[in-house]
Amino acid sequence: VSNASDSPIGVFDSGLGGLTVARAIRDVLPGEDLVYLGDTARVPYGTRSADTVIRYARACAASLVRHQVKILVVACNTVSAVALDHLRDELDVPVLGVIEPGARAGVAASRSRRIGVIATQGTVSSGAYERAIHAVDSRVEAFSTPAPLLVPLAEEGWLDGEVPELVAERYLHSLTSRDVDALVLGCTHYPLLEHVISRVAHRLAGPELAVVDGAKATALELATLLGARQMKANRERGSLRILVTDRPGRFAEVASRFLGADVEALGVEQIDL
Ligand code: DGL
Repeated sequence: VSNASDSPIGVFDSGLGGLTVARAIRDVLPGEDLVYLGDTARVPYGTRSADTVIRYARACAASLVRHQVKILVVACNTVSAVALDHLRDELDVPVLGVIEPGARAGVAASRSRRIGVIATQGTVSSGAYERAIHAVDSRVEAFSTPAPLLVPLAEEGWLDGEVPELVAERYLHSLTSRDVDALVLGCTHYPLLEHVISRVAHRLAGPELAVVDGAKATALELATLLGARQMKANRERGSLRILVTDRPGRFAEVASRFLGADVEALGVEQIDL
């Protein structure tokens, strides 16, 4: 374990979704080295029991700790919802999740204090968003609904067209009918489909509806935390190392499109946990 400022930041997710957080971190903290782990052999996490997700999360965290990371960012809402306290108790490095930043972004975006959340079944069942939103503002009414089919669509790179649009419409209907004025994308895979989700949400609820995700807020919170602990790296441009547990070629293809960077050239390494 290292907390030297030039050590990398560890980021993990069940698959591609956490790249939305990695991208935000690279925007806010360009000088940091990142090691990203996508557990593509076990994705999705969102349909599994909390016990299984905790077991997978421990394995991902242990793998990144072996890379001497100075801090761990859990770039997966499902893991943040059910395993964050376990990881914080068990690890010697600070652990940051995505739900609290997402909840704060949602509350900040809502004027009517009625917020909708789409997330995985695991996140919705945990009630983590409702708790986090009420911790920010107890007057807010939060409604969450699972939107599981958006995860495989994102993993497949099926990011546009009528199939994701119909799927999004089916899920969003139950939220927009409750007069929410902010929609939190409570799953790190969903921002990959943000343009489709926003288009549908605006058609159903009007252009005023704010669509938010916690990626940017998580990156800003990370910057604050590193600053306070004097753990910021002192270099101009950091590196990005990508590890996956299955199908590195497929990952590189979709990741390149999403990150707007040539991930194939960067190289995606396959590892076992
Ligand atoms: N990245 C996960 C999340 O944010 C969704 C994908 C999955 O179910 O594994 O909840």
